[in-house]
Amino acid sequence: MAESFLLKYIQEPDHGEVDAYVGRGGYEGLRRALGMAPAQVIEEVETSGLRGRGGAGFGTGRKWKFVPTDPAVTKYLVVNADEGEPGTFKDRTLIEGDPHRLIEGIAIGSYAIGARQAFIYLRREFHQGRAILERAIAQAYAKGYLGRNIQGSGYDLDLVMATGAGAYIAGEETALLESLEGRRAMPRLKPPFYPAVKGLYMQPTALNNVETLCHVAWILAKGHQWYRDQGSPILYSISGHVRRPGVYELPLGTTIRKGIEAADGLHSGRTFKACFPGGSSSAILPANFLDTPMDYDLAKLDVYGSMLGSAALIVMDDTTCLVEVVARTVEFYREESCGKCTPCREGTVWISQVFDRILHGAGRLEDIELLDGIARGMTGTCFCPLGESVPPAIYSTLRFFRPEYEHHIKTGSCDVKALARA
Ligand SMILES: Cc1cc2nc3c(=O)[nH]c(=O)nc-3n(C[C@H](O)[C@H](O)[C@H](O)COP(=O)(O)O)c2cc1C
Ligand code: SF4
Repeated sequence: MAESFLLKYIQEPDHGEVDAYVGRGGYEGLRRALGMAPAQVIEEVETSGLRGRGGAGFGTGRKWKFVPTDPAVTKYLVVNADEGEPGTFKDRTLIEGDPHRLIEGIAIGSYAIGARQAFIYLRREFHQGRAILERAIAQAYAKGYLGRNIQGSGYDLDLVMATGAGAYIAGEETALLESLEGRRAMPRLKPPFYPAVKGLYMQPTALNNVETLCHVAWILAKGHQWYRDQGSPILYSISGHVRRPGVYELPLGTTIRKGIEAADGLHSGRTFKACFPGGSSSAILPANFLDTPMDYDLAKLDVYGSMLGSAALIVMDDTTCLVEVVARTVEFYREESCGKCTPCREGTVWISQVFDRILHGAGRLEDIELLDGIARGMTGTCFCPLGESVPPAIYSTLRFFRPEYEHHIKTGSCDVKALARA
């Protein structure tokens, strides 16, 4: 019988205390890992079927296997705690609510790949999370879960926390490494700079998401079979027009409808209009997708840019103007574009200008084709996935909600917003 575990202790008043954590079986996964060969630890994680929770969904064990095993080579583990995707807030919940789980996952992952130095790259705005993590790290050092000769095993690990300046692009793994090294967060060319081969300071680096590493701590504590029996739980960040927005631990593949129900449904009198099933980078889906499972197969739908991403379900009811939603979404990417490549730097500005005139009553019917054309110009041409995140919202709303664009352009007004005021 599956049990909820990722969020199990976050409401406990002593959730950040090492003694309370150990009292509840914490750091047992690390003890177990230290008694195994590093390759066995990787095998355990791979057999569990864990896929990274940062957005790309790459197998965690498989990723670690790419890191060279030569002990003479310096390796690093880097934690991606930037969490800048609109609608995604599950990592912050884990950082603040179960910091030792993250530290344990970091220690296990570092041991598995042979790293003796790990870094947490934390979004600067997470002031509370930073204070909680700093305290937890100090406690872990004091109790011998970090530092020299961890738990008498002969294994040493130092953990350093670094904060970014709050740029969404710094969550992209190679841009994060640039920032961690003290430069502007701009993506590196891949190949050759895949982090597992040439990562931090050009050394092999495993780069993982916060939630991924929390799963690792549970897998090592309870074993891969127990983990598989739990039915691949995942944290969904559910926000927008639901009664109880929040982070929900649900089986992978929960449908959009069930996700909305978990968050207590829509506000009374309102009906569902659309959602982003995987954060602002995913396509916007209408009501006929309500029974679609939110899993990696979302990418196989016949809707360009439909994906699970970081499992952020943003719900919009019938009071939502989707033209405005897409305009605001593009503005976000325009502001966050690092400017390195032309399609993203220029495309986001052009698209914003077109939306501006549509929203200010000066749109032309040709603008619909123009939006589509600029989005096409950005598809497959951007240097990194940030620029490629812009077209899905445009393509999907032009496909499913085209009359809304036409109405805006023809009448210079928005009927939908009147509903919100009623
Ligand atoms: C623009 C952009 C922003 C990203 N932001 C994050 C982030 O905040 N946190 C995260 O874990 N991954 C983020 N990612 C994905 C990372 O590049 C990377 O795939 C992930 O951290 C790997 O960890 P995982 O294998 O544990 O999922 C982002 C990717 C892009 C393109
Ligand atoms: S796609 Fe955008 S964020 Fe990515 S490198 Fe190009 S300009 Fe920078």
